[in-house]
Amino acid sequence: MPFPIHRPRRLRRTEALRGFVRETRLSVRSLIYPLFVCPGTQVKSEIKSMPGNYRWSVDWLVEECRSAYDLGIPAVILFGIPESKDEVGSGAYDPEGIVQRAVRAVKKALPDLMVICDVCLDEYTSHGHCGLIKDGEIDNDSTLPLLAKTALTQVEAGADIVAPSDMMDGRVGAIRTELDAHGHTQVPILAYSAKYASAFYGPFREAADSAPKFGDRKSYQMDPANQREAMREIALDLEEGADIIMVKPALPYLDIIALARREFDVPIAAYQVSGEFSLIEAAARLAWIDRERMILETLTSIRRAGAEIILTYYAKEVARLLG
Ligand code: PBG
Repeated sequence: MPFPIHRPRRLRRTEALRGFVRETRLSVRSLIYPLFVCPGTQVKSEIKSMPGNYRWSVDWLVEECRSAYDLGIPAVILFGIPESKDEVGSGAYDPEGIVQRAVRAVKKALPDLMVICDVCLDEYTSHGHCGLIKDGEIDNDSTLPLLAKTALTQVEAGADIVAPSDMMDGRVGAIRTELDAHGHTQVPILAYSAKYASAFYGPFREAADSAPKFGDRKSYQMDPANQREAMREIALDLEEGADIIMVKPALPYLDIIALARREFDVPIAAYQVSGEFSLIEAAARLAWIDRERMILETLTSIRRAGAEIILTYYAKEVARLLG
């Protein structure tokens, strides 16, 4: 009897063999590229803590979308930086708001690129919270109609998918009802279902100038310590009509993705958020890590955990790396 009989290394000897038996593959077809849109024309202003990411005016946003589309990226998700903010986040549901104008322009230029809109008030409220304030607290039920209105104006502008990120209870149902009442029964909802109150959103808040002016988001976003609660949030969003669910952030929450993959038979998206991006960029600048390998390894891990769709600031980079 030769020893050892089992030699797992046999299948690791060459890249051809490794490619042959690989269990998980990254594909550009399942990536979503997040983009920030701001007022003005010919604006491309770099976000300091997210090198290589910009706030684009609508005209140049269209060109950035075109370059993503030409690389095979099927979808973008848009975040708006409005001209002005107020207590009730009017800019979010203004039919002429920054995101609504951006969607119209992008869909006109690139009808086959899927445009997803983030549904939330935080980029539009003067206080930076995702809901209305009542007696010093973030009020759930009075926020719901505004979120529904936001989604409706985005869809009427041409959005292909809406993605509520506010974490108010009942928002998926409120949005579904509003869209259906206006005949938009075919527009899917991608729900940020298990969204944690995370330090990893820091750079995004610089990008969107959306850090809360008082308190924090812990009364609506989830406690990072909780796993079972994530399953409950996902189940509720599915009951209310979510089509795709999301776990966010991604890499520190791979256990949540894996568990959701086992418990729910729906497409799962994961968001490699701004802080995950910036960690890699910062370490790469110090030459402490191999940037390209780390991009591919982190995204492969997110896929392996069970997410089929990934939102990543590296979407264009991955398209180039996978060539
Ligand atoms: C809320 C929203 C946030 C992100 C996406 N949608 C910020 C927050 O909850 O504070 C963060 C994304 C990222 O960090 O890349 N509209």
